Amino acid sequence: MARTLLGIESSCDDTAAALVRGREVLSSVVAGQGGLHAAYGGVVPEIAARAHAETLDTVVAEALRTAGLRLAEVDGIAVTAGPGLIGGVLAGVMTAKALAAATGKPLIGVNHLAGHALTPRLTDDLAYPYLMLLVSGGHCQFLIVRGAEDFTRLGGTIDDAPGEAFDKVARLLGLAQPGGPSVEAAAEAGDPARFALPRPLLDRPGCDLSFSGLKTAVLRERDRLVAAQGGLWRQDRADLCASFQAAVRDVLVAKTRRALDRYAEESPAAPACAVAGGVAANRSLRAALAASCAEAGVQFVAPPLALCTDNAAMIAYAGQELMEAGHRSGLDLGARPRWPLDTGAAPLIGHGRKGAKA
Ligand code: KG4
Ligand code: ZN
Repeated sequence: MARTLLGIESSCDDTAAALVRGREVLSSVVAGQGGLHAAYGGVVPEIAARAHAETLDTVVAEALRTAGLRLAEVDGIAVTAGPGLIGGVLAGVMTAKALAAATGKPLIGVNHLAGHALTPRLTDDLAYPYLMLLVSGGHCQFLIVRGAEDFTRLGGTIDDAPGEAFDKVARLLGLAQPGGPSVEAAAEAGDPARFALPRPLLDRPGCDLSFSGLKTAVLRERDRLVAAQGGLWRQDRADLCASFQAAVRDVLVAKTRRALDRYAEESPAAPACAVAGGVAANRSLRAALAASCAEAGVQFVAPPLALCTDNAAMIAYAGQELMEAGHRSGLDLGARPRWPLDTGAAPLIGHGRKGAKA
């Protein structure tokens, strides 16, 4: 019988707990903090940490109740130990340690990015190795996933994450937050060819990405229009959104093709490419990635959105794989603001609104 793990996640602005047995998600509770940070244009680490500390015990209790389990019935407690906003990570780690110490259950520290990266195994039983494109408001990287602790990072963003760029563009154009869905909705009525926005880093080899210049290019076009015609009309907004979305999609698809070439060198028996992160909700991006993978003869996997965005089921599942490999953390488990999955890769230099990139 598969092990049942409690997962705890608090590395950014979602407080989450989940119970997972094998590949079955028994419960997954996510309490967002959206409203708390709305006035500040980003996540305020101290506010996030306090909210996590206040919410964690009720979220854990709710996850247990929904799953119909008592703490005594779980086989281990997995917790995000980094990377992320340190106060939030600490709140989760302290909660997990307290539960482990009180119950005598094994404690397993999990890398948040590994949680995302292993999600397609939870949802689709993907075999190693597969290619993973992680695209959210806080992360953006290409990984070859060979095992629960075996990752090669092929590249990532050197500045903003793509979700961050969607959010900033929405703000520039007076659209609602989070920016991704509102920019996507506005883009539907827009002409993606009206503005010739840059495709950053396409002229450079490798899989690194950059989104900050793209956002500045949108700002410049906006200011040019406002200066020329005294304001921004609905169609201008739609065209700017469509042009921006097309640029993000084009660079992500082009770099994914490069990453697929690198991945193909491993001659995987069942080649697969998976996405995770909130930006994976973008229909135009999803469709373009699916088409590109089909062309390359690679299975394309997009887990359900609730498991693509931050959640604790992915942490419980990753904890399970680590536990199977014999891992246990001690009560001296630390919280790590930075924790790259691939220690051999050159560090990513970005440090965004939602904390460290790796
Ligand atoms: O993974 P996630 O829920 O949280 C973290 O970033 O940790 O991702 C949220 C990000 C936001 O920046 C949001 O604007 C973006 O994902 N997003 C989208 C879409 N839906 C959400 N970006 C583009 N298109 C969308 N449809
Ligand atoms: Zn995340």
